[in-house]
Amino acid sequence: SKPVTVATLRRMKANGEKIVVLTAYDASFAGLMEAAGVDVILVGDSLGMVVQGRDSTVPVSVDDMVYHCSMVARGSHLPLLIADLPFMSYATLDQGLRNAARLMQEGGARMVKLEGGSEVLGFVRALCHNGVPVCAHLGLLPQSVHKVGGYRVQGRDEVSARRMLDDALALQDAGADLLVLECIPAELGTRISEALEIPTIGIGAGVDCDGQVLVVYDILDITLGHRPKFSRNFIAGQEGGVRGALEAYVRAVRQGEFPAPEHSF
Ligand code: KIV
Ligand code: NA
Repeated sequence: SKPVTVATLRRMKANGEKIVVLTAYDASFAGLMEAAGVDVILVGDSLGMVVQGRDSTVPVSVDDMVYHCSMVARGSHLPLLIADLPFMSYATLDQGLRNAARLMQEGGARMVKLEGGSEVLGFVRALCHNGVPVCAHLGLLPQSVHKVGGYRVQGRDEVSARRMLDDALALQDAGADLLVLECIPAELGTRISEALEIPTIGIGAGVDCDGQVLVVYDILDITLGHRPKFSRNFIAGQEGGVRGALEAYVRAVRQGEFPAPEHSF
């Protein structure tokens, strides 16, 4: 097989092939994901919660992201490697460009992800001018949890749905290559995915997104306490252990069997 690129992902969307994405934070999981046929690995700032034991993604630093990204980069070669720009690491254009460079040069990322809509368009354009592939992120934005006052489904009414669709189109125009949609009604996931040329990757955004992403600890039943409604335990009820669970996830996403209505809003 060949390394997955932005061109691969666009072709997959055009052909109606689902894109399979998982988070990873170390070399061992990255290697297992590559073997299972995962297309894209996201080194998410969710590592603040599932690896560092913090209660949000806000405390995660660029150094943390570079450290985990470099481990994932050593453990896998074919999947497209995306790293999150963490909280406040792109507050100014200068800072954002410097930190994106660190994720790529020191961390080995081949795309960076950032949260937000109209307010980040200038930054997305600047990244594109510098040859940095961009994954945007709309819907529930964990880095804004303290501003919003909690984690909840976004885009439920027509005004906010329309605003999200406009933001998605503007991000695409600004040069974004990919768009994560988190915790929105399945119907809005369909609407945005159909309106865009770039692929959408859903997490709690319905089965019609062009791909799906989940936090790997959730699908392996490692997460303590509450597992989000949009996730599914893939290790239960099959005999292949961790490898089998990853393969089951890949299969379920490819075949459009995941997410089912019970994982959607
Ligand atoms: O940090 C993360 O893991 C993410 C995904 C869940 C989209 O941003
Ligand atoms: Na994230």
